[in-house]
Amino acid sequence: MKTTSSSWGVGALLLLALHLVYVVDGIGVNWGTQASQNLHPSIIVQILKDNKIGKVKLFDSDPWTVNFFAGTGIEVMLGIPNNQLATLAKNYDKAKDWVKHNVAKHLYNGGVNIKYVAVGNEPFLKAYNGSNIDTTFPALKNIQKALNEHGIGDKIKVTIPQNGDVLTQAATAHPLATFADAPKVKIIIGEIGWPTDGNINANVDMAKRFYDGFFKKMATKKGSPLYQENIEYYLFSLTDENQKSVAPGDFERHWGIFRYDGQPKFSMDITGNGNDKMPVPGKNVKYLESKWCVFNSDIKNMDRVPANMDFACSNGDCTSLKPGCSCSDLNQHDRISYAFNNYFQMNNQDVRSCDFQGLARIVNVNASTQHCFFPIALQSAGSKLIGSIPIREALGDMVFLLKHFPFREALVDSLKQLSII
Ligand SMILES: *[C@@H]1O[C@H](CO)[C@@H](O)[C@H](O)[C@H]1NC(C)=O
Ligand SMILES: *[C@@H]1O[C@H](CO)[C@@H](O)[C@H](O)[C@H]1NC(C)=O
Repeated sequence: MKTTSSSWGVGALLLLALHLVYVVDGIGVNWGTQASQNLHPSIIVQILKDNKIGKVKLFDSDPWTVNFFAGTGIEVMLGIPNNQLATLAKNYDKAKDWVKHNVAKHLYNGGVNIKYVAVGNEPFLKAYNGSNIDTTFPALKNIQKALNEHGIGDKIKVTIPQNGDVLTQAATAHPLATFADAPKVKIIIGEIGWPTDGNINANVDMAKRFYDGFFKKMATKKGSPLYQENIEYYLFSLTDENQKSVAPGDFERHWGIFRYDGQPKFSMDITGNGNDKMPVPGKNVKYLESKWCVFNSDIKNMDRVPANMDFACSNGDCTSLKPGCSCSDLNQHDRISYAFNNYFQMNNQDVRSCDFQGLARIVNVNASTQHCFFPIALQSAGSKLIGSIPIREALGDMVFLLKHFPFREALVDSLKQLSII
């Protein structure tokens, strides 16, 4: 799949579960952790409970994280990254081990309500040149067999997250074409959402319009012409992730219905019945100190600014500075400050990350402007979450989690393409 700067939009990813399972009402969300700091899993659990979000889709199966869902009743979908497929396909013992350590051990009385295992993430994407075609199904079969051996094969289902075009193309050559035709395939919308920054068409107003339309449609419980059943779905995404690859576009870091710190961005009508309200924010969120790294306005010689700005932006996050984005109207000094501050916060306010060859200084006056939010870093959530970043990075820059529809036709046509309206 090719993506260009003018070609993006609503994302949809479908999961084809290989068996029909009982659908629990209530919304699901994706929770990814490709951020410089992540909210503690216990805060995430509380956000889900407070907002009556009953299901969560994870991108890996880190036991420390998964453990926080024990006793909550929240349905959990675990993920197996593509780079593990070959091993799991070749070696049944590895698949058995995986199930034992990532699934079975959570299934005690009062444990984690694991419902699905997602095998790979869009493994058949063209960008992978077919490299997962020979391993995905054998890996899936091994995982299924291992689940069966543990006696949990009918409680926990395996799925393969697939791009939406599998269903709309009459691609008989596609490995999943036969499954899509099978009557007993349950379709789940694995990722659906609208970003709020990083593109001229990504803002809170349009995201709200999208979600309102989506929830209204979902409230009818009639599915789509393609699939006339109540559809289970997972919003994309719970929180912003400031370290996601921007290969598909700068908006990639702004999919959250919540900010990085668990603050909701806009009101939502989750029931689709006109009950529009602000989501409940994260509780007990711990920030680092209230200090910001800004451009030292005593500096008159601007020669060193471009190189330092480049450094800050390529190692930090300047996606909100782009034309049409939330911080695009800052003056020159504030733009530099924005870049410096993001780098400083992403480095946990380490004083060495607010030097920029003497161009920067640390202040305790809030540097945010009316439209442009200058973040403060979160306190570390625990060592594991930081360690999880390379796993998803390893998927490579070419991973497009989402199907990006051409934006020209804007909201309505994107929704039509998705058969949502
Ligand atoms: C797929 O092939 C293209 C062109 O041959 C190459 O540039 C790219 O790196 C390959 N991708 C992977 C994931 O192997
Ligand atoms: C800084 O100001 C912004 C915008 O008014 C506000 O949202 C944010 O909470 C403030 N940050 C702190 C740490 O006070």
